[in-house]
Amino acid sequence: MADQVLKPIEGLIAETRKLIQPYIFKRLEARRPRQAGKKIARTITVTSGKGGVGKTSIVANLAISLGQAGRRVIILDADLGLANIDVVFGIRPKRNLTDVINGAHTLDEILIQCPCGVQIIAGGSGISELAHLPPEQTKRLFEQLRFLEDKADYLLIDTGAGINQTVISFCLAADQIVVVTTPEPTALADAYGIIKVISQTRPASQISVLVNRAESKGEADFIQERLEKVAKEFLKFQIQKLGYLPDDQNMYLAVRQQTPLVLFSPMSPAAVSLRKIVSEAFNESVTIGSVPAESEPDGIEGFLGRLSRFFRKAETPL
Ligand SMILES: Nc1ncnc2c1ncn2[C@@H]1O[C@H](COP(=O)(O)OP(=O)(O)O)[C@@H](O)[C@H]1O
Ligand SMILES: [Mg+2]
Repeated sequence: MADQVLKPIEGLIAETRKLIQPYIFKRLEARRPRQAGKKIARTITVTSGKGGVGKTSIVANLAISLGQAGRRVIILDADLGLANIDVVFGIRPKRNLTDVINGAHTLDEILIQCPCGVQIIAGGSGISELAHLPPEQTKRLFEQLRFLEDKADYLLIDTGAGINQTVISFCLAADQIVVVTTPEPTALADAYGIIKVISQTRPASQISVLVNRAESKGEADFIQERLEKVAKEFLKFQIQKLGYLPDDQNMYLAVRQQTPLVLFSPMSPAAVSLRKIVSEAFNESVTIGSVPAESEPDGIEGFLGRLSRFFRKAETPL
């Protein structure tokens, strides 16, 4: 009796399944690119032109804040001159990118584990070698860097002072560039300088400005608006606004304690502003600032492709 009732029902289920199957697959296929896109790491290069404006402090604290929000963050320390992300975190890297280039270690072996799941790649002299590596070493390095796609939601690149080829290549290769400036005229002039080079070399670049060490929101807004105006007028380029951090002596104390500010003094004014930037500017689709849809990240693969192109160009001076 039960069989007699069940059979038609099973038959009906099988029929229905057959009917809806193509639609299920269609829907899954339609969803796949979006899901895959979400997993793609966003590469962000933090730069300034002028040294000492707070790039390294900002990279470290952005990384920790994003880590606290559940994001997987890897920092690439590309500041060869004064590589000090390790100082901010109180660590002493034993290995760096050179060891990967030489084939002595894998990328996994040189990754330094930091609080909140943040990991650091110490660039060392490997960074300056990138532009002139023989093909087999470039291949080895890029093969290793490709693994970052599965390990990170963000690759944050801390650059050194100056507007040199290495800095520019990392800016041009990234999905997004954060230009840090202070209200000082020299810092502003250098910020404009780097915005000029980047926007003229790759007009599709996404540049966000972060005003650091501002006396007030009013001062930060004034600086931001001035930069925006000159970029629009003279470079025909639209920059984005990322926000500002107040001048806060806790930042200096945190560096002395070799602990990122957001961990050392979470309620200090600069730490509060940093979290505000992270919660306002970094949204679900791992974009930062009001970035147009066409600037969806194309991951480590896109980053490496552009990086190799720009480094190759570097053989002829800019
Ligand atoms: N918002 C801030 N308020 C006060 N001091 C700051 C602030 N941001 C950075 N600093 C200080 O400025 C100095 C240089 O910062 P750093 O991050 O090393 O700059 P960069 O990487 O651009 O050279 C550090 O001593 C740091 O503590
Ligand atoms: Mg620095």
